Amino acid sequence: MTNNRNESIDMGLRNFIKTLGCMTGGTALLATTPWLTSCTPEKLEEAARERRARIGVIGTGSRGQYHIHNLLKIQIAEIVALCDIYQPNLDAAAKLVPGARLYKDHRKLLEDKDIDGVIIATPLGTHAALTIDSLEAGKHTFCEKAMALTMDQCKAVYDKYRDSDRVLFYCMQRMYDEKYVKAFQMIRTGLIGDIVGMRCHWFRNADWRREVPSPELERLINWRLYRENSAGLMTELGSHQLEVCTLVADKMPTRVAGFGDIVYWKDGREVYDTVSLTYQFGDGRNIVYESLISNKFNGMEEQILGKAGTVDLSKGVYYLEEDDLVFGVRQLLTQVRDGVFAAVPTAGPSWRPELRDKYVPHAILKQASGAATGQNMIGEQNDGSDIILEAFCQSCITGERARNVVEECYSATILCLMGNQAMDEKRVVSLPEEYIIPYMKF
Ligand SMILES: NC(=O)c1ccc[n+]([C@@H]2O[C@H](COP(=O)([O-])OP(=O)(O)OC[C@H]3O[C@@H](n4cnc5c(N)ncnc54)[C@H](O)[C@@H]3O)[C@@H](O)[C@H]2O)c1
Repeated sequence: MTNNRNESIDMGLRNFIKTLGCMTGGTALLATTPWLTSCTPEKLEEAARERRARIGVIGTGSRGQYHIHNLLKIQIAEIVALCDIYQPNLDAAAKLVPGARLYKDHRKLLEDKDIDGVIIATPLGTHAALTIDSLEAGKHTFCEKAMALTMDQCKAVYDKYRDSDRVLFYCMQRMYDEKYVKAFQMIRTGLIGDIVGMRCHWFRNADWRREVPSPELERLINWRLYRENSAGLMTELGSHQLEVCTLVADKMPTRVAGFGDIVYWKDGREVYDTVSLTYQFGDGRNIVYESLISNKFNGMEEQILGKAGTVDLSKGVYYLEEDDLVFGVRQLLTQVRDGVFAAVPTAGPSWRPELRDKYVPHAILKQASGAATGQNMIGEQNDGSDIILEAFCQSCITGERARNVVEECYSATILCLMGNQAMDEKRVVSLPEEYIIPYMKF
């Protein structure tokens, strides 16, 4: 039913969920990731027996073609139509899917009665309008993150979704990444004790610029750099990481302050290349968030800090505070032996190591490459994108919505946009009442 490669990735998560369903306490654990309840192997097989989902892709640039590659491996999917306003990208996608119907106007694709579900992989500024058009046309819809460019657009999309009976997914792939799923559950069951704070960052060293064949295409091709279509680092990178934080905390921060600027890439772009913010929850805990694209030393991390340990979700590892203590005691004994201390300074901080590399990384998934050493897992192939896409195709057949996916994307996008507002206006920004949805907890 699925090919070999897909089976090894997909069945990992699906079988993990199936096993959870059967074990004592598993149902309670599954309740911490309710969007996965439709993701059992049986439900996939049931959908596959019915038929294949007929999919149209709108936006066949970089991410659209990435999704096409994944769709071509999904047995329950059939790509029947493609749409892009930029001919070279439409041509490139058409080569991947010979025989697909080609459109240059998304409305024409949406009129196509032979399409069950639509993938939207266009610039952020177009997400809201295309998603609303797609739901109105009666299509199940899968849109790339983030939800929209403005809070008003987010609310309009959310309201449209609530009034519709169609399936809507956002590509928040960490919700379908096995190491994240397992980590969410480990944290909820007390692995690291009380959560006392969170630190996330995403550092890269690249300008985000693409080559442009002629100047009038600058804003179409380099849309990420201009505010008419992009909310910059916050929505492009931060949305994933803030979502992880709200999922783990199971609540929303209520305010944010921070600074952003164009520090290095002063090339006419309008979005910040450096951002640094603090989001605060009502109980005083913070998410410290940082991103820049002119130095990659720190890579990407999503650290959940607990009284008893730390989980770094992106690396797929956790560290326990007691491991550090064991190291500290060992170091103290050596120092006493070597005469560094005349007496044992039990109350002093001087002998306690506070270096991260003294912690022992424990892998969340034992089989994951890079995890055991605490090496960064950025760029790992199995990041959940293919599984969330398959889950969407399954939903196109069954009509079953995945719980929380839309609400999580909505919440994360609102947080990103609040962050941008705080940086632009250089003030503390609180979550505006009018954008609070019943899903949000504080
Ligand atoms: N989930 C992830 O990890 C992830 C990773 C990369 C990109 N993305 C998201 O994917 C989306 C696309 O990013 P990208 O890097 O592929 O951009 P891109 O510029 O490579 O591709 C966008 C394509 O959309 C086309 N387009 C623009 N307006 C259109 C319209 N009205 N109708 C049809 N086509 C239109 C463009 O011509 C282009 O081919 C963005 O929202 C981005 O944030 C998500």
